[in-house]
Amino acid sequence: MHDRMASIPTTELSQFASDVLTGLSAKPKYLSSKYFYDDEGSRLFQEIMKLPEYYLTGCEMEIFTSQASDIHDALANGDGRFDLIELGAGDGTKTAVLIDHFLARKADITYSPIDISQEALDALTATFTARFPDLRMDARQGDYFKILRSLREMSSRRKVLLFLGSNIGNFDREQAVSFFRSLREAMSNDDLLLIGFDLQKDPHVIAAAYDDGEGVTAKFNLNLLTRINRELGGDFDADKFLHYANYRPNEGSARSFLISREDQAVTIDAVGKSFDFKQWEPVFMEISQKYSMEMIGSLARDSGFEIKQNFFDSRKYYCDSLWRVA
Ligand SMILES: C[S@@+](CC[C@H](N)C(=O)[O-])C[C@H]1O[C@@H](n2cnc3c(N)ncnc32)[C@H](O)[C@@H]1O
Repeated sequence: MHDRMASIPTTELSQFASDVLTGLSAKPKYLSSKYFYDDEGSRLFQEIMKLPEYYLTGCEMEIFTSQASDIHDALANGDGRFDLIELGAGDGTKTAVLIDHFLARKADITYSPIDISQEALDALTATFTARFPDLRMDARQGDYFKILRSLREMSSRRKVLLFLGSNIGNFDREQAVSFFRSLREAMSNDDLLLIGFDLQKDPHVIAAAYDDGEGVTAKFNLNLLTRINRELGGDFDADKFLHYANYRPNEGSARSFLISREDQAVTIDAVGKSFDFKQWEPVFMEISQKYSMEMIGSLARDSGFEIKQNFFDSRKYYCDSLWRVA
């Protein structure tokens, strides 16, 4: 990395620019996966969810479709009055299955999807208002880490937090515990938290989910370079990078990287710097942790929760784990 212009104080950079600067200045380099979801990224993720290799969506959909009634009973706590707050809601397709069932059971709910991507939130709001005209909604755009702080003030009703789609897998253990602890602090004693965990399974099945035959996952990762070009004035040539993903069974984690095909320098105007990439140098993009039931139990304990109930799909590939405050 070398300066191209006089350095710009970090405080004047957007959060995106500042995170890109930090990640590409690090050794080894990394980029944060939370920036995957611009318009095109959200569209590509919807394509990924339909891929035969990406089993995760189908598993969670199966759990919600076949066990909506049990999930309702576990969340309703008798009175069926609660606020559903979804962190990283995406297109909300699976949540719609639950809401459909909850409304049919006359549950008195408000739905608050939170997402960093305005595009994802706009699409969700349009779909949900058309499909559920009577549903009270309070969509919020932003980083859920920031919105967490205002969670207690959002409403005085009992809260059920949703963190679905194996989003938690994008955190390492330390980040996951600290994330759950901050949720715990924002929650009251009778609030609940439903989390989607992808379970450990045949490594071939997992590896294929992050390296599909059609190359959609590769496009999804490479799209972040295009986003940097458009929003931060970068000059990445996406053809000079390749997508590589692997699964480490001893750690239970899949990782994805963009690898520089050649020695090259990339300039990003918004951060006033140019970054050197050596041939075959990796940029770490995303971790996708897979869990055993022991890991889920110990995560709950270490974050101040206990497991109230677990919901599995028929193949036991996936677990939606419902936690209450310990
Ligand atoms: C893998 S998608 C999953 C979407 C949905 N939960 C599902 O199960 O289909 C992750 C979503 O979380 C959002 N997201 C990622 N990091 C976020 C953050 N720090 N704050 C808010 N939203 C975030 C992304 O924009 C994206 O819509």
